[in-house]
Amino acid sequence: MSNLPAIPGLVYDHEDERYYLESCAGATVMLIPDVDYDAWRITALEVQQDLRQRRLGTDLLETITRWADANHLRLTLYADPIGSDGPTVNRLIRWYKRHDFERIRGKSRRLMLRKPPGT
Ligand SMILES: CC(C)(COP(=O)(O)OP(=O)(O)OC[C@H]1O[C@@H](n2cnc3c(N)ncnc32)[C@H](O)[C@@H]1OP(=O)(O)O)[C@@H](O)C(=O)NCCC(=O)NCCS
Repeated sequence: MSNLPAIPGLVYDHEDERYYLESCAGATVMLIPDVDYDAWRITALEVQQDLRQRRLGTDLLETITRWADANHLRLTLYADPIGSDGPTVNRLIRWYKRHDFERIRGKSRRLMLRKPPGT
């Protein structure tokens, strides 16, 4: 896709169609337009297994929320664990809530929305 935004602190890998942290290629994420919610949907947020629990996931998430706030953009995501060796659904929901995502009534109970401040 050619219309993906440039996000300060992230590098876009065209082959992988993912962004990764400038400081660490083991922390990756995809963004897709979410037309239903007029937002960018965060998907496939993942930190390489041997690099987990060192705040890289937080760094990646905060890099995206900072960019979204600066550009007055909404974000959505599904709090759906990928694999069984990371945080559970409930842990993920709590983590995202701490980063100002809210659960919304959508197609799934795991759907979360984050609005830019002041909206
Ligand atoms: C979710 C994921 C990206 C977090 O990456 P990370 O670099 O380990 O995350 P951080 O070190 O920044 O920790 C983020 C928070 O999750 C908690 N956490 C991390 N791993 C955890 C685990 N295995 N069990 C419980 N909590 C965990 C941390 O304590 C931290 O919470 P805090 O902010 O209250 O301290 C990583 O676990 C992962 O890749 N999981 C598999 C993919 C996945 O499920 N992605 C989410 C899709 S919605």
